[in-house]
Amino acid sequence: RSIVVLAGGISHERDVSLRSGRRVADSLAEHGISVILKDPDAFLLGYLQHSRPDVVWPALHGASGEDGALRDLLELLGIPYVGSRPDAARLAWDKPTAKAIVSRAGVPTPRSLSLPRETFRELGTNSVLAVIADEFPVPVVVKPARGGSAQGVSIVTDPAELPRAMVDAYTYCGVALIERQVIGTEIAVSVIDSGDGPVALPAVEIEPVSGVYSFEARYNAGETTFYTPARLSDKVAAAAANTAIRAHNALGMRHLSRIDLIIDASGTPQFLEANVLPGLTETSLLPLALEAAGHDLGWVYEALADAAIR
Ligand code: DAL
Ligand code: MG
Repeated sequence: RSIVVLAGGISHERDVSLRSGRRVADSLAEHGISVILKDPDAFLLGYLQHSRPDVVWPALHGASGEDGALRDLLELLGIPYVGSRPDAARLAWDKPTAKAIVSRAGVPTPRSLSLPRETFRELGTNSVLAVIADEFPVPVVVKPARGGSAQGVSIVTDPAELPRAMVDAYTYCGVALIERQVIGTEIAVSVIDSGDGPVALPAVEIEPVSGVYSFEARYNAGETTFYTPARLSDKVAAAAANTAIRAHNALGMRHLSRIDLIIDASGTPQFLEANVLPGLTETSLLPLALEAAGHDLGWVYEALADAAIR
């Protein structure tokens, strides 16, 4: 069986993807599987047409890896691949859309507003900020509607910081999402389905040393304390697992996802976002959860590749 692991790409998360891809390839290679690690470039189409791998394992984050475009190409070529199909990827990748869909499925998600850059310009900074200040009293989280690894994300506790937060978000995406900040326990529940239906892995609780789960806190060892399983009561842990599966299913995701949740003061898991291709680096949450549950990474990544081929 020939597996091509795609990693790198041209998104803002290129470096993260290179680390995820390296680790996926190494984990598979430890099982004696021959893996080609490939950085997708302009010649990707020709390369895939010519080499026709049995399966592609896209360890790509950000646009083109998670937004469905690459998956469209693989569908077109008829090459099996790990992860969600194009439509589900597109729905999950766009945070406002994902929130709307998951909320319709009965899962609470923090109140939010999405604001395109053009609207921000047309209405003018002051009137927009007045509306935000009115309807979304601080603290709020401002983030690019599409993006990952906390790039362009700000927690705003002082309304005077809003303009800078908006500009930061627009650096990454033409639509900004302003979301009420829910104070609570931040957890991530990874979902794996290698053919027998989606299973929620133990929740990982995230406690960044700086207080904010920033890019730096994500990818530098020691900058975040993880609790696996999360320090939750059995009841809340079960609710979190259930919520993650509901979100995964509502979005029509396949094989793997990571659902990021916050447990509010009443113990209710609220949906923040669904990751199409969650980080798989040395400091990432999905591999941490797999290892905590006693799984071998290579074995699971191979099972997902097999599920893609079936
Ligand atoms: N988007 C990155 C890879 C993550 O959230 O894990
Ligand atoms: Mg994400």
